[in-house]
Amino acid sequence: MVKISPSLLSADFANMQKEVSALEKAGADWLHFDVMDGCFVPNLTFGPGLIKAIRPHSKLIFDVHLMIVEPEKKIEWFAKSGADIITVHAEACRHLDRALSEIRKYRCRAGVSLNPATAPEVLEYVLDKTDLILVMSVNPGFGGQKFIDSQLEKIAQVKKMIGQRAIEIEVDGGINKANAAKVISAGADVLVAGTAVFDGGKYKQNIEALRKA
Ligand code: DX5
Ligand code: ZN
Repeated sequence: MVKISPSLLSADFANMQKEVSALEKAGADWLHFDVMDGCFVPNLTFGPGLIKAIRPHSKLIFDVHLMIVEPEKKIEWFAKSGADIITVHAEACRHLDRALSEIRKYRCRAGVSLNPATAPEVLEYVLDKTDLILVMSVNPGFGGQKFIDSQLEKIAQVKKMIGQRAIEIEVDGGINKANAAKVISAGADVLVAGTAVFDGGKYKQNIEALRKA
């Protein structure tokens, strides 16, 4: 069954604890933390301090998406803040292989993300160090953007590349109940959604609608 990882980028930042409890009650599987540094992406959000503050209030899997330059230098921060999965961008790492090993060294699951313009071939020689591949279906930086259709083919390519390996495919950006079915049939195991989950404040209904797709 497909997992739903609501993006806290769409949450009310003044009430994070309340938002997280509401998402947990509404049936979220994971919690997606969009960490942005204003450098790798043109937006700035939060760091390990927020993740650490939320950790005692939730039993969900903390799915941390690092949109920061040189993430390999900050993995310890996020591992110690309580992340379960740490995802770095292939484009942001000079040494992707080392970054993924570093994540596993802290007993977190190692994720690697690809921008829409990046081909999956960059992952070919790190598959044995990867637990999750995050396909960006928008250019990272902001919520509420339109899904880029060319990424459906990339999801299918990634799926083929993974073969029998125990690697999950997560897709992030512009996902809603109208396109979720296509994304899942292309090969996605986990859907990230901000706008579609928070729409109208009906978290439970929105999460169910995505899952049913
Ligand atoms: C974009 C983030 C996404 C985004 C998802 O940089 O990585 O997680 O917030 O939001 P929606 O679902 O609104 O596209
Ligand atoms: Zn994200």
